[in-house]
Amino acid sequence: LADPTFSKAVIDWQRSHGRHTLPWQNTTDAYRVWLSEIMLQQTQVAAVLGYYARFLERFPTVHALAEAPSEDVMAHWSGLGYYTRARNLHACAKRVVQDYDGVFPSDPALLADLPGIGRSTAAAIAAFSSGVRAAILDGNVKRVFARVFGIDAYPGLKPIEDALWRRADALLPEVAGNPGAIEAYTQGLMDLGATLCTRSRPDCGRCPLQARCVAFATGRTAELPVRKPK
Ligand code: ADE
Ligand code: SF4
Repeated sequence: LADPTFSKAVIDWQRSHGRHTLPWQNTTDAYRVWLSEIMLQQTQVAAVLGYYARFLERFPTVHALAEAPSEDVMAHWSGLGYYTRARNLHACAKRVVQDYDGVFPSDPALLADLPGIGRSTAAAIAAFSSGVRAAILDGNVKRVFARVFGIDAYPGLKPIEDALWRRADALLPEVAGNPGAIEAYTQGLMDLGATLCTRSRPDCGRCPLQARCVAFATGRTAELPVRKPK
């Protein structure tokens, strides 16, 4: 399952065609990375930008957020939707202050134990803030993998999802001697799913994975990923 040419293709594409100037990139501040990943869980980049700036202006540190009244936190989230995220965000800030003296852990397993942080979000935070070698598998990445590997079953099924996590782990680039590789690979997978391998009309002509993509080779990009069975 390991294949260093896969991560190389994603990393090279990310470095020449990916996004590099989003406000949560080019920082290793885990607080800023964490906030961006929570906001981006169910909301597109364009909608997040303004909220992210206003939120950080009002709550510049995890301490400021932990100490704020919940009404104030909710007011700065108002309009972003999925308000459980905001309640978990506030609870998480309090936990980081109480349990970790205000310093986010870099171990994805510890991050995933905090409110509102699942396995994929934990890996993204650890990768972007600390260069930790951990695999993401969000909705966009599931779609890319389902197409590239020609997965013929609904990726939300537990055994299929388990198999996708094993692939995601195996495909990670090595970090030794590759500074920035994990960050570029993680951002590259996200950017591929968001900008090229979109749900409808993927732009396969510009895709760095085209030569190894089962869906492209078999003309099944419209059928994959398999939709949720009813
Ligand atoms: N979606 C989730 N995380 C993201 C990130 N770091 N950059 C862009 N889109 C994202
Ligand atoms: Fe997605 Fe097309 Fe690239 Fe395959 S070739 S990964 S379907 S964009």
